[in-house]
Amino acid sequence: MTRTVSLIQLGIGHVGAAVVELVVKRAARWRDDYDIAVRYAVLADSTAMVAAPEGELDGPLAHALAGALERRHAGLPLASFPDAVAWDNTDAVLEGTLARAAAPEDVVVLDCATGERTTPLLLAARAAGASIVLANKDPLAGPLERFRALVGGAGRGSLRLSATVGAGLPIAATLAALIASGDTLLALDARASGSLGFLCDRLSAGARFDAALREAMARGYTEPDPRQDLSGFDVARKLLILARLAGGDAELADVHVESLAPPGAETLERDTFLARLPRYADHLAERAEAARAHGRVLRYVGRIDERGAPRAELVDLPADAPLARGGGPENVFVLRTARYDTTPLTISGPGAGVSVTSGAVVADLLRALGVA
Ligand SMILES: NC(=O)c1ccc[n+]([C@@H]2O[C@H](COP(=O)([O-])OP(=O)(O)OC[C@H]3O[C@@H](n4cnc5c(N)ncnc54)[C@H](OP(=O)(O)O)[C@@H]3O)[C@@H](O)[C@H]2O)c1
Repeated sequence: MTRTVSLIQLGIGHVGAAVVELVVKRAARWRDDYDIAVRYAVLADSTAMVAAPEGELDGPLAHALAGALERRHAGLPLASFPDAVAWDNTDAVLEGTLARAAAPEDVVVLDCATGERTTPLLLAARAAGASIVLANKDPLAGPLERFRALVGGAGRGSLRLSATVGAGLPIAATLAALIASGDTLLALDARASGSLGFLCDRLSAGARFDAALREAMARGYTEPDPRQDLSGFDVARKLLILARLAGGDAELADVHVESLAPPGAETLERDTFLARLPRYADHLAERAEAARAHGRVLRYVGRIDERGAPRAELVDLPADAPLARGGGPENVFVLRTARYDTTPLTISGPGAGVSVTSGAVVADLLRALGVA
């Protein structure tokens, strides 16, 4: 008998919209190949949720989906949708979806949102035995107890998190599988920020800070407010997730983070900061010059040591070091474990981008359904 799977998708921004498109495009194929009918039950943005009474991708929800996405493209939030449900009612939305599913593991929550607001829904879904797929790092970067509740779950369903680190590069699942099979992480060194990788590359080549940052923004490598990248906070969250997957018990406050934001820039309004960028032309120039004088390059590097204490900082490296090779937004993860000791395991590739990230979310969805 055809298995029907209901999706609750939180977040329909760049990544979320691409996930919807991919799911809609692949659904017929999954039905043929796996005898699984995937239907959207709920879509949410920051303003509201839209729940479908019933139907499959080609049924009534197709109209709801198309309507919701059209509204967003027209700049209208989901709250303007006639049957929009407020975020306060997430319990009822989840319960309604679970009640209509044959089994809790036939409900999958895709979190393509940002921030921690989705966490209560995710915890409730896990406790009920549903599966979760995350692109959103924030629910995993809160208190350790919450991380464990999400990752451990209630024995049914599963949590997949490929897209939270390295935009879907096979790092999180690989590390988790190594640890689960008895390996031990000795050290992990990473270049885990596409935007900071690009910035360091340009600075090492002699570019001015303001010009390099503007170029990173123009290429879409940074968050809308680039200070979120410069603060190192994004790298800190990724390191925390990896450290916890390796069995560590760190909290976000334990991660040592060096900010690359110019002094005083954190407290400015975003637009004021951007207007003042030329004032920061020489920011980090001395460090870049000192590195160049010794034939080295700047890199923003994250490290988890044997005690599992993550740190993220600007360092200079020989140009042929594994973490220095490959420029721009590429991510590199070098894992030294008890098994991969003399020759570390290196995973590298694009660490940002809508296409690879949405693809990783959909691949995780198929893993959650047990077919990939
Ligand atoms: N883009 C990448 O390359 C990449 C790579 C790896 C991981 N990720 C992660 O994937 C997630 C989505 O990224 P994106 O680039 O698609 O971001 P985005 O375009 O800003 O979209 C974010 C989506 O989340 C919703 N949202 C924001 N705050 C929310 C809240 N408090 N409650 C509920 N919904 C909320 C937004 O709703 P509104 O539209 O109403 O604002 C929007 O639909 C993020 O967590 C990001 O860190 C992205």
